[in-house]
Amino acid sequence: MTEKVEVLKNQIQGFIVKTNSELEEFRLKFISKKGELSQLFEELKAVPADQKRTMGQMLNDLKKLAEAKFEELQSGLGNDGSSSAFDGDLTLPPIPNKTGSQHPLNLTRYRIIEIFERLGFNVEDGPEIEDDWHNFTALNFPENHPAREMQDTFFIEKNPDVLLRTHTSNVQIRLMKSRKPPFRAIMPGRVYRNEAISARAHCFFHQVEGLYVDNNVGFSDLKQTLYHFAKEMFGRDTKIRLRPSFFPFTEPSSEIDISCLICHGKGCNVCKYSGWVEIAGSGMVHPNVLRNCEIDPEAYTGFAFGMGIERITMLRYGINDLRLFSENDLRFLKQFKPVM
Ligand code: DAH
Repeated sequence: MTEKVEVLKNQIQGFIVKTNSELEEFRLKFISKKGELSQLFEELKAVPADQKRTMGQMLNDLKKLAEAKFEELQSGLGNDGSSSAFDGDLTLPPIPNKTGSQHPLNLTRYRIIEIFERLGFNVEDGPEIEDDWHNFTALNFPENHPAREMQDTFFIEKNPDVLLRTHTSNVQIRLMKSRKPPFRAIMPGRVYRNEAISARAHCFFHQVEGLYVDNNVGFSDLKQTLYHFAKEMFGRDTKIRLRPSFFPFTEPSSEIDISCLICHGKGCNVCKYSGWVEIAGSGMVHPNVLRNCEIDPEAYTGFAFGMGIERITMLRYGINDLRLFSENDLRFLKQFKPVM
């Protein structure tokens, strides 16, 4: 009997299962009432009285071993009631692949590109690490403009200044310097500001710059282009409003507001009870900027605009906190369109 116990012990320890039916084999052989182990318990009755105690102890140990092994094999198959083993229920739906979803800022960027591409705008790109000339000087920023201060901008080197670009307007300059007009382009990208992080501000965010330079480009082209954009992006009923403003690189300049999507102009806390929400800065390219890029302002005129991708995404999806975009919280991210 001791020998038999030894044989069964080895069999139990070495048992491997790949399928549910092999697991069932194990159960029948070592655990069920009709199995070999139960058989040994039967035989125990015939064992001489002086050996009964030790033999009984051995069998009990073997039984415990078999039960523990069964559990181990079962969890190895991933059996939690449903079966992932090959001979499981083949009619169950497959376990879905987790492919992830597209970031809402990308979804908005793609949509913006789509709208402007149909108007004949190219997509251009420029560096995030920029020199002072492309980020400020060429854009007609005066020497003492506050954006040039340490507390507004991240400097990488001083004298000569190298910094993280504060807007995508640097790409306007790079484009106009490197090619001949006409230009019709949008320039999406990441920008940086030295700001404390909150629900409404971040030290980095995204913009899309727009530039259209040709003979006879007028303010009405700017207005109509952005009106078309607003209707495509936010729906046919969207209205726009141009509000006089100031930027060193445009003259005249205006902020572009759209009618509030939440309250439709009645007033709510999203639009701060004004009925309007700002989506972009814009204006006619300043003659000094054209001159800085060796373009004759008598021959060419143009408009430019810069819009925040975060702002547009927040309006589009009803998101109320900027920090959600960069926290990588899957509960937030997985609500958007899956990657195909
Ligand atoms: N660069 C501006 C900013 O970051 C946005 C802007 C305003 C861009 C007017 C433009 C423009 O091209 O014409 O606030």
